[in-house]
Amino acid sequence: MIVSINHSFWFEDLLAKSAVWHYFHRPQDVVSAILDEWCSPMNLRPATSEDLKTIISWIKDETACRTWAGPVVRFPLNPEGLAHDIEFEPGNSYCLMEDESIFAFGQLIKKSPKRLHMARVIVAPRKRASGLGGQWCRELMALARKKGCKTITLNVYRDNTAACRIYISNGFMEVAEKSTQELCHMIIRCGSPNNS
Ligand SMILES: CC(C)(COP(=O)(O)OP(=O)(O)OC[C@H]1O[C@@H](n2cnc3c(N)ncnc32)[C@H](O)[C@@H]1OP(=O)(O)O)[C@@H](O)C(=O)NCCC(=O)NCCS
Repeated sequence: MIVSINHSFWFEDLLAKSAVWHYFHRPQDVVSAILDEWCSPMNLRPATSEDLKTIISWIKDETACRTWAGPVVRFPLNPEGLAHDIEFEPGNSYCLMEDESIFAFGQLIKKSPKRLHMARVIVAPRKRASGLGGQWCRELMALARKKGCKTITLNVYRDNTAACRIYISNGFMEVAEKSTQELCHMIIRCGSPNNS
């Protein structure tokens, strides 16, 4: 998606006055989110256990598995074992679809009445590095807000550059005391700046 904007002062002023600015670091991220919403032919739907077979086909080795899902998920993968390890439920796992194809998968796991944990975010290998990861992250964040969530947390390995860039550009911040040298724990508050 090509986004070219000469962001003038009125646009920055508009963003600064709106709650939108709270979620994004750069004007181009706001524009991407607006265009995603208006132009995307893709749909988010709850994942089924059948979908896990497709997700498994995207994970080629143990390192990729760990980078994606952390140390809890056992490799080699099979649908039953994966469903168990990721606490799979149709109400906490989602797919991004175009027509009949799954383009991305991710989870929103309830950790407390107002906190959801975004986990196992993944984009189909053939669709990577074209902005879909960022779009998918925003779709999951919007869904979390619709569910009434006040904070979203996640864990990401520091050497997972693409994932780290997505989360940072969408407003997630590191929580130093819950992070390690290897793993970054991140959080975003979903309320407006005044009531978060
Ligand atoms: C992480 C992942 C979801 C990113 O999805 P994507 O569609 O490739 O990401 P995007 O195209 O939206 O790119 C996001 C950012 O990363 C950068 N990027 C993309 N691929 C990259 C790569 N291989 N190396 C470094 N940076 C990369 C992009 O330039 C972009 O940066 P910008 O926003 O500053 O311009 C995808 O790579 C993936 O599924 N990885 C395997 C599973 C995984 O690691 N999940 C994350 C678990 S926390």
